[in-house]
Amino acid sequence: MRDVYVPGVNIGLVGHVDHGKTTLVSSLTGVWTDRHSEEIKRGISIRLGYADTTFYRCAGCEGSDAYTSGPECPECGAKAEAFRTVSFVDAPGHETLMATMLSGSALMDGAMLVIAANEACPQPQTKEHLMALELIGIQNIVIVQNKIDVVTQAEALKHYQQIKDFVRGTIAENAPIIPVSAQKGINIGALIMALDETIPEPERNPEDEPIMLVARSFDINKPGCNWREVKGGVVGGSLTRGLFKEGDDMEIRPGRSVQVENRTKWEPITTKITSINAGSNKVIEATPGGLLGIATKLDPALTKSDALAGQVAGHVGKLPPVWDRMKFEVTLMDRVVGSDSEQLIEPLKHKEPLMLSVGTAVTVGVVVNAKKNVVEVLLKRPVCAEIGARIAISRQVGGRWRLIGMGVLTE
Ligand code: GTP
Repeated sequence: MRDVYVPGVNIGLVGHVDHGKTTLVSSLTGVWTDRHSEEIKRGISIRLGYADTTFYRCAGCEGSDAYTSGPECPECGAKAEAFRTVSFVDAPGHETLMATMLSGSALMDGAMLVIAANEACPQPQTKEHLMALELIGIQNIVIVQNKIDVVTQAEALKHYQQIKDFVRGTIAENAPIIPVSAQKGINIGALIMALDETIPEPERNPEDEPIMLVARSFDINKPGCNWREVKGGVVGGSLTRGLFKEGDDMEIRPGRSVQVENRTKWEPITTKITSINAGSNKVIEATPGGLLGIATKLDPALTKSDALAGQVAGHVGKLPPVWDRMKFEVTLMDRVVGSDSEQLIEPLKHKEPLMLSVGTAVTVGVVVNAKKNVVEVLLKRPVCAEIGARIAISRQVGGRWRLIGMGVLTE
């Protein structure tokens, strides 16, 4: 049995800008995930935010009243029992940050689609994010109808009906819809109960070879620190399977770029895991679910400023292949969503540039061969992925990358 304080799943927060994703994480965990100075200044999330929380249940209360995110029951004041820890991945809602949202969705086992009750539903990124969940194959969804404190009951009911009409025929058709106020902490117990029921911990096999999707990487040294005290580079991300132990040798692919006779080549990086942080706890062994910080012996120049984001880490020699050319089967949507003009989506064209999201990697490629539903693309930057991996496909529409469909890597 997993320790209840170790996160077992990553739950994403997606939805239109300003609908309250960061506020909701804060009300569920006490952590404000926008920490970047630019994010605080502009009031929007730019990067992915992370926070863990433990769910508690009160033995003396019933139904949703029994669920809380703290050890004291808010209903009766009795001691509540910890039963499960989850990790939240807060994706940005701004339309220009779809690439970040897509790489974040690769880490999600389930998601909350946050929809503000004081705006008509659906707003453009409410649609685009739900489509992304659908394309990436995230089945376990809880819809959060937020900001109910600023609407009347009649308005909330009308908005609830709009949500129902919007999700009909989508992956979220039967998702529970939980009305809350993230800011005022209203109905959070019902939300925790719905998350617990809708996003269970998947069966994991500890014997699987580890695959970690790298979402961030850091140089944790202070500028000007003594070279004797320099700490190795840190990579952050989530295991999709298997486990990592302190002291393991680790490989990262595609790795680093090197120039060989005017050509760029990519070489895998190998290093040793010196320590592992799961959330804010140091652990000696890490499992899927939750976001990890893996300290290594790498030169921190290699890991600074997210330089390794989008790469894949695993045991040496056990990682999937690296592709600089990918062939995939394509399923395109009928219309572009996410903007006001919902244009029809034309088939992919020869020489057309595409933005492709594979795992946490985002890369640009040019179509070199386009047959009916099979496309071959030459990539600017290679990616490490397994055959069968899902690829989110975006194309330039009106000067922006817009999600238009999904591919499955064949070779
Ligand atoms: P991005 O990450 O930039 O997409 O935004 P977000 O979805 O994380 O929204 P955020 O949590 O930053 O909230 C946006 C604004 O809505 C802030 O001013 C919040 O205070 C406000 N807000 C969030 N939840 C509620 C709520 O339940 N009620 C009310 N009245 N305001 C809320």
